[in-house]
Amino acid sequence: PPIPPATLVIFGATGDLTRRLLIPAIINLTRSGLVGDDLKILGVGIEPGDDASLVARLDSFLATLSDPILPETDEAWRRLRQRVSYLSGDFTQDPIFLEIKKHLTSCNAAFYFAVPPQFFGPLVEKLAAHGLTSEAEGCFRRIAIEKPFGTDLASARALNARILSNVTESQVYRLDHFLGKETVQNILTARFANMMIESLWNNNYIDHVQISAAEIVDVGTRGKFYDKTGALRDMIPNHLFQLLAMIAMEAPNGFGAEAIRTEKSKALSALRIYTPEEAASHAVRGAYTAGTLNGHEIAGFRETKDVSSDSKTETFVALKLYVDSWRWAGVPFYLRTGKALKARDTEVVITFQQVPFAQFRKTDVNRQLPPNKLVIQVQPDEGLSIEVSIKSPGLSVDTVPVSLDFRYADKFDISKMTGYESLLYDLFIGDQTLFQRADGIEAGWAAVQPFLDIWAKSSETPESYAPGSSGPSCADELIRRDGREWHELGESRHNHDG
Ligand code: BG6
Repeated sequence: PPIPPATLVIFGATGDLTRRLLIPAIINLTRSGLVGDDLKILGVGIEPGDDASLVARLDSFLATLSDPILPETDEAWRRLRQRVSYLSGDFTQDPIFLEIKKHLTSCNAAFYFAVPPQFFGPLVEKLAAHGLTSEAEGCFRRIAIEKPFGTDLASARALNARILSNVTESQVYRLDHFLGKETVQNILTARFANMMIESLWNNNYIDHVQISAAEIVDVGTRGKFYDKTGALRDMIPNHLFQLLAMIAMEAPNGFGAEAIRTEKSKALSALRIYTPEEAASHAVRGAYTAGTLNGHEIAGFRETKDVSSDSKTETFVALKLYVDSWRWAGVPFYLRTGKALKARDTEVVITFQQVPFAQFRKTDVNRQLPPNKLVIQVQPDEGLSIEVSIKSPGLSVDTVPVSLDFRYADKFDISKMTGYESLLYDLFIGDQTLFQRADGIEAGWAAVQPFLDIWAKSSETPESYAPGSSGPSCADELIRRDGREWHELGESRHNHDG
């Protein structure tokens, strides 16, 4: 159904997120008939300007897209842009909230915080103090908060407490944009709509799980943010843990938001909390040096603008974690993420156990067959593959590994989606399934806190790795000492292309 009449108030309306993702997603929703003329957009920002100047800014950005969106030719944008207005002001002060109040023409409103995290707490307080978050009978008032949600366990708890002393959990939509990705949502369908997958989904059959989010991009112009953040905080307790929660959770007893979020939180709170010694032996860090990336010379991380030359921040991290539950006891979860790597590759690889006895051998009695793998390719080339052994053609009985592949692009057109369509739609229809609940966020931070603590005390710098590589050699050692290997970055793609 189309969304109800509402106003989307965007704090940070002149920023990158608004023009790159939010507006294009709303345009897509308008095209598909899910957003009608009764959605109004009220941009708020510190920059001076008026309705016309915000629209002009958006126009000029949308025109530069590889598939340009122009008001002359794009009916959805032509209609939507007539309903965009702008208020300039300092949203740490009261006057702007009086203005916002005057501009709210519908009783339903969603306040979207596309602003730096230091404003999250103050914004909720101001909105609540001005009565803007009070829900009249039959109306909603919601807040949508982008990451980062806290920088450690204590700050995440404090932020949750501050938010929840002003609004109720049912009004809070904490975004993790990974949850907007088709393939991430597909994890639950793959598991709970397929007997042949879910019935093997436990420590009787699964040897280990790998979750990787490799990026080719380097830190570039984000030095200021990244030097105080690092790969662990930037990606693990949020994006990678969302993937982990969907892999590790139990079947929910319904497909409603609370049932699903409860199971996800349970999975995250089962993550083993390491002692400092355990943390030190279950995590490795790297930082890229200067070198060639995709044919271009790049500066090393510590030479990047706004990064301190003796920075100890990591641009790569690999962890070995355990989910201490009946289902997952003894199954390691290896996670890794990094920048300036050889391939863009976000994937989950489930490696099944060896067959108990490999009859198919020629002469080598100790030979082991390659284990089955299920590869959930989150991006790029969204899809699902299963690696199995088949008989290699010929007179003798021998096996060869092959991959059974499904690619979304072969069957569906999801190319134009920003990933924000489902998140924005759900924000308006009031479905919190794809948003993080307070307890889930805190459980995630609790599991990474031991790593933050040991690194804060350590004088060691992260190990160097060359741009365009698979990361530092310590990451290979972390998994090799268990007799396992990382799934080759970019490999599923090559299989497919080949
Ligand atoms: C963001 C991180 O949350 O996610 C970035 O801050 C990272 O550093 C990005 O590049 C990755 O998202 P995606 O959708 O490009 O995989």
